[in-house]
Order: sequence, then structure tokens, then C-alpha cells
Amino acid sequence: MNIYKVLPDLSNERQMRLWQQGLRKQWSAEDLNWNAPRRLGGEKIRDQLGRVLTPVLTGEQSALYSVSGLIPVLGHQSQVPAQFYLTTWAVDEARHTELFARFFGRIDREPLSIRKFPAGFLFQSRIISKDPSEWLTGVLASESMAQVVSHELRDLDLDPVLSEICAGILEDEARHLGFNHIYIEEQFRDLYNDDPEAAEQKADSLRERMKFVLEGVPPIIEAIREDMSDLGIDMDKVQDILDRVARHRLDKAINGGKDQALGTKTPTKEPEIEAALL
Ligand SMILES: [Fe+2]
Ligand SMILES: [Fe+2]
Repeated sequence: MNIYKVLPDLSNERQMRLWQQGLRKQWSAEDLNWNAPRRLGGEKIRDQLGRVLTPVLTGEQSALYSVSGLIPVLGHQSQVPAQFYLTTWAVDEARHTELFARFFGRIDREPLSIRKFPAGFLFQSRIISKDPSEWLTGVLASESMAQVVSHELRDLDLDPVLSEICAGILEDEARHLGFNHIYIEEQFRDLYNDDPEAAEQKADSLRERMKFVLEGVPPIIEAIREDMSDLGIDMDKVQDILDRVARHRLDKAINGGKDQALGTKTPTKEPEIEAALL
């Protein structure tokens, strides 16, 4: 652990604002009405939900692992406001994991085993890195996926508890994506200030990384495509939105940092995707 100053540097206002928001917007699985009548009576639909929620639960658990793993990495670099924020992010992912674990109990089903569903685990293994911006690029892909899927499930309104879980998660995800943007943007602002050539190289490597992580998505889509379409979710649409939104967000963060450093105005494309996720 590197503690250079006894008094930590808390001057990053944007990160500190998100930290305060993260603290104030906490909620608990206990706040939900788990006794609300279950709308999922049939065996078949519960089997299907058990399968389609497997990658969701895996994603939440992996997010908890990823975010907790990043806390000491940021500490090592004395990035204290980011470290503060990530403690709330970790609590968020712990809550999401608890919510879906309990929801499996509500539908009386178990998630698929790793043997039956390797794609979900292989996808998560693509995300991890010791470099915060590489890791956050992978996390950006999985957070965007969580957002798109929660959005679809909330709108389907299959069960009151599931809808409430998804609505709460969407609010949390907005903060996570906000931090992801701020962090990558600030990193690129500093990189472009110091060494524009190195910044371009780093930008290319993160875009490559995003491509690599997103290549892990189609096998997950294939594994749950039929069940999802029975439930009323078009996985081609999910894949398309995810692909575009994740790449767009990475570009937006990188270009935002570049523009701040160099005074340029890089046009951002595809604002309509963000609107589709409200
Ligand atoms: Fe989550
Ligand atoms: Fe998240």
C-alpha cells in the first residue's frame, strides 16, 4: 500500500460527488416486498427464468469480484476519491448478487452449472486486468449488458419483485457507468496532456480490449436465445444495442478526455442509443 500523504488528496470533485451519491442512494434487499404475490406460477416459465437469469447472477457476482479487486489497485496508486467511490460500487454489486440469489429462491430454481453454461464464466474471465483503465473497459461492457438486460426485464414486468429489482439496479448502474466515464475521461485528459502519441496507443489498445470482451457475448446470447425469445426478449436487439452502446461509451470517454486536453471537439455519434435505455 502506498500512502504518500497522511491527509488524502480529495480534490477530485466529480469523483467525490459520485461517492456522496453512492453513499446516499443505498438500499437493501430487505426493502423489497418479497411477500408480493408471485406472478410466475407455471413450471416452464420458472425453468426458463432460471436459465436466463444465470448469466445475470454470474455477472453480478463477477462485478463484485472485479470492483473489490480494483479497490486495492487504486489504493496502490493513491487514487483515494476513486477508491472511496468503489467501496459503494462494491456494496451495490453485493446487493445485486443477494437480490438475484434470493430471487432464485422465489422461483424455486437453481442457476445453471458452469459445465452447462461455460459461456458466462468465460465472458467474465475476459474482463479482469491489473490496469484500472483496461479493467474498467471490460467492466463497461458487462455493466452495459446488465443495463440492457435489466431494462428489457423491467419493461416485461413478469413479476413484481423482479421488476422492482431491475428498476433499482438500473439506478445503481447509472452511477457505475457515470464513474466509468469520468475515470476513463480523466485518464485520457492527463495522457493527452502528457504524451498524445502514447494516449493514441492506449486508446487503440482499449478499443481492442472492448472488441475482445464483446466477442465473449454471442455465446451467452446463443445459450439463452430461445428462452429469452419465449419470454418476449429479442436477443438480436440486445446484442445490437450492447455492441453499439459499449463501444460508443468508450469512445465518448476517450474523446472527452482528448477534447479537454487538446481543446478539440470530437463529434460523438449515436446519442439515440442512450435515449433507448431510459
Ligand atoms: Fe450489478
Ligand atoms: Fe454494476
